[in-house]
Amino acid sequence: MKVLIETYGCQMNTADSELIQGILRTDGFETAHTLEEADILILNTCAVREKAEARIMGRLTNFVPLKKQNPNLLIGVVGCMAKHLGHDIVKKIPYVDFVVGPDNYRRLPAILRSIGKNAEIQTAFDRTELYAGCTPHRPRGVTAWVTIQRGCNYVCAYCIVPYVRGVERNIPAENILAEVRELAQQGCSVVTLLGQTVNSYVDKEVDFPELLRRIAAIDGIEQIRFTSPHPLGFSDELIEVIASEPKVAKFVHLPLQSASDAQLRAMRRNYTYEDYCTIVQKLRTACPQIAISTDIIVGFCGETEDDYQCTKQALLDHRFAFAFLFAYSQRSLSIAARTLPDDVPNDIKQKRLAEIIAIQQTISKEVYAQCVGKRLPVIVEGFSRRHPEQAVGNTPDFKTTLFTGGDAQPGDWVEIEIERATSQTLKGKLIRILKKGNAPQVENPIDVGISLGPTENPPN
Ligand code: SAH
Ligand code: SF4
Ligand code: F3S
Repeated sequence: MKVLIETYGCQMNTADSELIQGILRTDGFETAHTLEEADILILNTCAVREKAEARIMGRLTNFVPLKKQNPNLLIGVVGCMAKHLGHDIVKKIPYVDFVVGPDNYRRLPAILRSIGKNAEIQTAFDRTELYAGCTPHRPRGVTAWVTIQRGCNYVCAYCIVPYVRGVERNIPAENILAEVRELAQQGCSVVTLLGQTVNSYVDKEVDFPELLRRIAAIDGIEQIRFTSPHPLGFSDELIEVIASEPKVAKFVHLPLQSASDAQLRAMRRNYTYEDYCTIVQKLRTACPQIAISTDIIVGFCGETEDDYQCTKQALLDHRFAFAFLFAYSQRSLSIAARTLPDDVPNDIKQKRLAEIIAIQQTISKEVYAQCVGKRLPVIVEGFSRRHPEQAVGNTPDFKTTLFTGGDAQPGDWVEIEIERATSQTLKGKLIRILKKGNAPQVENPIDVGISLGPTENPPN
């Protein structure tokens, strides 16, 4: 039986889709590459904003003709929306055959083999589930997602994630190191460590800075990225490792959410705007070439015009390389949904959002334009899907760079002269190969675009 997975939401879900493929393939299932050849269709879903769920519900209704054509086709919903809505999904869309939460993927092979007339719903939390012994099925290539942490122990008032992903659980450091060593042996040289608050990672004596140091010591690993850290507990030691360890990306995605202390308090973020600025300043002092990006929510409960102006000013002051910008969307289960009125009118939320999107777009353009004329190191990750003659890679500060010329291969470090820039990418020509890599032929071309942050809302 062939399985196709469509993935929504953040990188945790992308990594989980690879995990699910791994679990199913170990059990004899195969991978489908098109809807038509699939016997089993799985939507790995996101619940973070109402729009994300609405989009998935819409997608599910598209499958009516497919199901009519092939009555044996199994359709399932897994991931965060599966945990959030459970039975309600089947009530709304009766031809959904299974609904499986983020802690229940090991059961998928058994569930798929035993589905009868009634939909199978399995969404219970299992705080012991770390998927030890399950090998994700990854596309062969230079980059890999590596989950180091599941769940979240923070309770930001707006956020549904802790209620759909459960409490924080850290993967044992030795398992992570073994996984990265194996990836390096297969020719993967760029890893992105994933967790909801990666800097709270701890396993016995190994905290997050130590984990970075140990991964950096692995031969074959050239670049380590991570997402997302939380401003709380962003220690001087972490700043020191980012600044001093050449293999650690000179890039930090550091969600601010709001620059108003009243809003930060209402959001239960546990830091002040000043705390945030101190981290940014320390990062920029210790590591002048660092690029910083962020997440912002406008229109959260009680946000006044003054609160909003603080956030707008913060974007102007920090000049983030890019930012994921959102209008607040009330989520059931969250603290805000239970205790705070969603009192900013939608037209004001949308007006504020549109304004900061325009501001950030200009800033990103300027930040990227500053690279024009420079020669920058780039690690090659593959070839553009739309323009296969162009190679794609990233600078150490995570600026996606397209270039032509030469015979650079994935895994190589190259020097690129930057000729043009948009608000999301750099374009240039190859000057020379700095260091040959030993990557295998990549399996998948790359969709050019920034791939850190919730993919549902592309950066501006
Ligand atoms: N764990 C990550 C965030 C995961 S969710 C962190 O704390 O950094 C990704 C982003 O979605 C958040 O940073 C926030 O900006 C946004 N978000 C989360 N819940 C939201 C909601 N209810 N409405 C609008 N945006 C939300
Ligand atoms: Fe956890 Fe807060 Fe991030 Fe939500 S926004 S996942 S609660 S740290
Ligand atoms: Fe889940 Fe990530 Fe969305 S943790 S709710 S898929 S942003």
